[in-house]
Amino acid sequence: MAFGLFKKKQTEKSEIPSVKAGHLNVTVKEVVNETADAISIYFEQPDSGTIQYKAGQFFTLIANINGKQERRAYSLCTSPFVDQYPAVTVKRVEGGLMSNHLGDNLKAGDVMEVLEPIGNFVTTFDSNNERHIVLFGGGSGITPLMSIAKSALSQEPKSMVSLIYANRDTDSIIFKSALEKLELDNSDRFKVIHVLGEAPSEWKGFTGFLTQEIIKQTLESLPQMASDQTEFFMCGPGPMMDIVEASLSNLNIPKAQVHKESFTSDAGKKKEKAAVSNEIIAREVTVIYDGEEFKYTVEPGETILEKGLEEDIDLPFSCQSGLCTACRGKCVSGKVKMDEDEGLSEAELNEGYVLPCVSHPLTEDVVIEIG
Ligand SMILES: Cc1cc2nc3c(=O)[nH]c(=O)nc-3n(C[C@H](O)[C@H](O)[C@H](O)COP(=O)(O)OP(=O)(O)OC[C@H]3O[C@@H](n4cnc5c(N)ncnc54)[C@H](O)[C@@H]3O)c2cc1C
Ligand code: FES
Repeated sequence: MAFGLFKKKQTEKSEIPSVKAGHLNVTVKEVVNETADAISIYFEQPDSGTIQYKAGQFFTLIANINGKQERRAYSLCTSPFVDQYPAVTVKRVEGGLMSNHLGDNLKAGDVMEVLEPIGNFVTTFDSNNERHIVLFGGGSGITPLMSIAKSALSQEPKSMVSLIYANRDTDSIIFKSALEKLELDNSDRFKVIHVLGEAPSEWKGFTGFLTQEIIKQTLESLPQMASDQTEFFMCGPGPMMDIVEASLSNLNIPKAQVHKESFTSDAGKKKEKAAVSNEIIAREVTVIYDGEEFKYTVEPGETILEKGLEEDIDLPFSCQSGLCTACRGKCVSGKVKMDEDEGLSEAELNEGYVLPCVSHPLTEDVVIEIG
């Protein structure tokens, strides 16, 4: 079947092609329309067992589009503690390859190749925890936050969860009724504060962009817990997250309590700049992956991952924009320049970890060990 989605035979499960380590073939159980431009894709659990994931992690969906294999990351919106079937929610991006391909073509019974869930936008749940989890979401950024909210409410009976959720208008609110139900079922522990760009006349909530003033007012209105018992998670468009980060910084919230997941980066633009800078020239690199050593020359204007894939080396990757860490490796010799390092923590950077999908060799002796 076209598009890299191959139909599972009704009677012969063994006919689904087997996949390599870290990859799974999953059958689409159901496609649910969430809003006019967002669908949730529920997957059957595979015959081999239950898919393991942590709230806040993402799947990488793989599909063949226009003759080319494409991969994109999609956060799981379900909770591993609550939901029987894992699901992702995909919002259409104007002109976007994968989001429109999935929205136009995917249906129940199709089989997709995915990479096993990974990601660091996670927290450890403990029934003894007594904390306030404050979530800031914008548009499709609700997906990992939904998973974290459901998981926290089910696993931590003494914790509270608040969600500040910015959207264009009421029709674009993903999970509107699921959130209302979650609020009803946990009325003393879960609160949703909507911020709408364009609100109907009867709207009593916040209108316009999420501002520092709205964030300050909202945080003051929420039940107060000791500041070190409050943790913040944000996921949404870059400008929204910049405002949230600035607000939390102005309120002297320690960075260790603030967690961020980005769906987009400007690594592409930075790559173009790097291509014309004097420091980036064609250099040979050594990549050690899966016990094998590969040597190849990376030209200005391409990244270490891109050139590796071009050389037919089966390197791991997902977002290709320095956000998801699927391609992470350790630079054990030489220096690289990264166009984007948001996916890596300070500790990882200090230990020499790099993201080959956004890296260019800066010295002649670059050796990167992956996996
Ligand atoms: C860790 C992670 C988790 C993610 N989780 C989700 C999720 O749960 N749900 C979801 O819908 N998306 C999610 N994304 C974004 C997703 O991976 C794709 O980037 C997105 O669906 C666009 O892919 P596309 O192929 O349709 O667009 P592309 O063909 O890749 O891009 C087309 C154009 O749109 C721009 N663009 C790409 N993504 C966005 C965006 N999100 N908003 C606005 N413009 C964009 C690109 O810069 C490009 O100019 C996640 C990304 C990451 C890194
Ligand atoms: S592939 Fe996502 S960070 Fe490199």
